[in-house]
Amino acid sequence: MSGLDDVIATETTLSDVDGEAGRLVIRGRSLDELVIGCRYEDVLALLWAGLFPESAGADQIARGLGAARLQVFEQSRAADAQLAEQPPVDAVRTLLSRFEEGNDPSTALRLVAALAVFTPAVIRRAHGLEAIRPDPGLGHAADMLRMLHGEAPHPDQARALDRYLVSAVDHGLNASTFTARVIASTRAGLTSALIGAICALKGPLHGGAPGPVLDMLDAVGEPEAARPWLEAALSRGERLMGFGHRIYRVRDPRADALKGALERLAQAGRLDPARLRLAEAVEHAALELLSRNKPGRPLLTNLEFYTALLLEALGFPREAFTCVFAAGRAGGWVAHAREQVLRGRLIRPLSRYVGPRPSEAA
Ligand code: ACO
Repeated sequence: MSGLDDVIATETTLSDVDGEAGRLVIRGRSLDELVIGCRYEDVLALLWAGLFPESAGADQIARGLGAARLQVFEQSRAADAQLAEQPPVDAVRTLLSRFEEGNDPSTALRLVAALAVFTPAVIRRAHGLEAIRPDPGLGHAADMLRMLHGEAPHPDQARALDRYLVSAVDHGLNASTFTARVIASTRAGLTSALIGAICALKGPLHGGAPGPVLDMLDAVGEPEAARPWLEAALSRGERLMGFGHRIYRVRDPRADALKGALERLAQAGRLDPARLRLAEAVEHAALELLSRNKPGRPLLTNLEFYTALLLEALGFPREAFTCVFAAGRAGGWVAHAREQVLRGRLIRPLSRYVGPRPSEAA
């Protein structure tokens, strides 16, 4: 009961997480297939089909998203000095809260675009740099990197971020998606649903994990130190970030999708191979120690472990990793919020009262 394990709270046609087989299916297509052949824009078209009065194809979504990035850009200039002092995810959430409410496709595109535009703007502002105007002609992932670094990314880097955004786009009824659906079920609107989802995402047990993964790698320092460092952390009762999952009892398929992207970046000389070796040593030791400590509970590598390395290699600062996660997951949040409005009812579960009754309390 605690944590709602095994409770089926809704039916969905959007995604299915098979925790025993380690398979993620999005609208009938497996993630393995999507990460190889699809841009983020293609996956948005797949996810959003039938959820708005008029369905848009992938090219139309790509054009609409490019235009929406330009449209929201002016609002990113409101990333003032005060916002720059906040953690990036809080600054992005504050900027989003200035958006109008809405339920239409243009609100959906603006919200997804905003996360891609606000994230680099907030990062640059924190370093005293001006935000960079989007280029609507570029792919969503490539433009996000261009807005971060001020120059067009290498195609391998753009592909790696695209692969990450696709891997992160949807994943059943995780905590942030459930939050989005609860808010949408009250008919509050897409903007509110996404802001609430970001609030749920930022916690370290969900989308806040990849920053701490890098802190762990830095603290370990070298491959030989992995085992004693992790052993000491576990004996202090700490959780190892990037491992374990509520649903998966085998390796998270998204971890492998990202590992493939990382290996390609390393081959292209865009990732320090020593960093990858260190991560592999930490992963190897962590898996061994976790299986020894919890023999009955498979605790395996999750999405966040290799996310940390990938986003670091692409030049995102660790404190902003959750924003990049949100930029990918936003497409899924929109789809779930719309599905909830179209096919669901107000979400209103019961609680069992276990406190004192009036006569006992007196
Ligand atoms: N390191 C050490 N121990 C762990 C870990 C971990 N990463 N994960 C779970 N455990 C332990 C728990 O402490 C618990 O021990 P106990 O029974 O002695 O109290 C036991 O394993 C069972 O864990 P659950 O409570 O069943 O795990 P739950 O399903 O509630 O949590 C979660 C899943 C939150 C992902 C957990 O594994 C965790 O905290 N991982 C680290 C944070 C992380 O990587 N988060 C990202 C998740 S992926 C995502 O959101 C995209």
